[in-house]
Amino acid sequence: MKENLFITIEGVDGAGKSSHMDDIRRYIEESGRICVNTREPGGTPFAEEIRNHILNTSMPLELEVLLAFASRADNLKNVIFPALYDGKTVICDRFTDSTYAYQGFAEGHPLEHIERLESEIQQGIRPDFTLLFDLPPEISFKRLQGTGKTPDKFESKSLEYFEKVREGYLYLAKREPDRIKIIDSSVSLEDVKKQVKEVVTNFLQQMDCNNKNKFKR
Ligand code: TYD
Repeated sequence: MKENLFITIEGVDGAGKSSHMDDIRRYIEESGRICVNTREPGGTPFAEEIRNHILNTSMPLELEVLLAFASRADNLKNVIFPALYDGKTVICDRFTDSTYAYQGFAEGHPLEHIERLESEIQQGIRPDFTLLFDLPPEISFKRLQGTGKTPDKFESKSLEYFEKVREGYLYLAKREPDRIKIIDSSVSLEDVKKQVKEVVTNFLQQMDCNNKNKFKR
């Protein structure tokens, strides 16, 4: 059996990560793995209720951070850990890097507090691999406006806010270059797809060489 993996997808709003989910899943399945998709905030019925509050209710920053981790705790307990223990690969649309980038770097919540919650709630689990869809906010802004979708609390933030989110993400990627691979999303869709295929395929080949298995029954 191929080893289970925990893969996360990150990026500023409007960077286009959703357009590549199906491709990412396909490459992983072609490598002989069974995938489970989830997202954050959300992923379970209870966590989806929390998501609704995080995305649409104005609240103190500390509460937003605690709710993000409450949602994460439920997703980990009911979706992520069970799938990994079952030998499956989990693809999570956003995870703790989002909390660092949005609540930490953009809004100024103390990073040490996020680090503490990360180690308490996640019981040692961190993503094996993260794709970071990177795009200058001026472009992501235009893309978001073009969707015609009613913006949620985050999508309504200023350009400066998204610059800070982006800088936060780039800082995290610089700190952990082996885990976080940057996808330049400012180029054509076709070129973004090529980059996605390359980084995912390289990662899977590397994993197959190492043949690691985190959670064996
Ligand atoms: P997103 O995943 O982009 O969903 P959609 O494509 O449906 O809009 O939106 C989730 C939002 O939640 C995004 O703006 C980032 C924010 N978020 C945080 O602020 N902190 C977190 O810890 C997480 C997981 C998400």
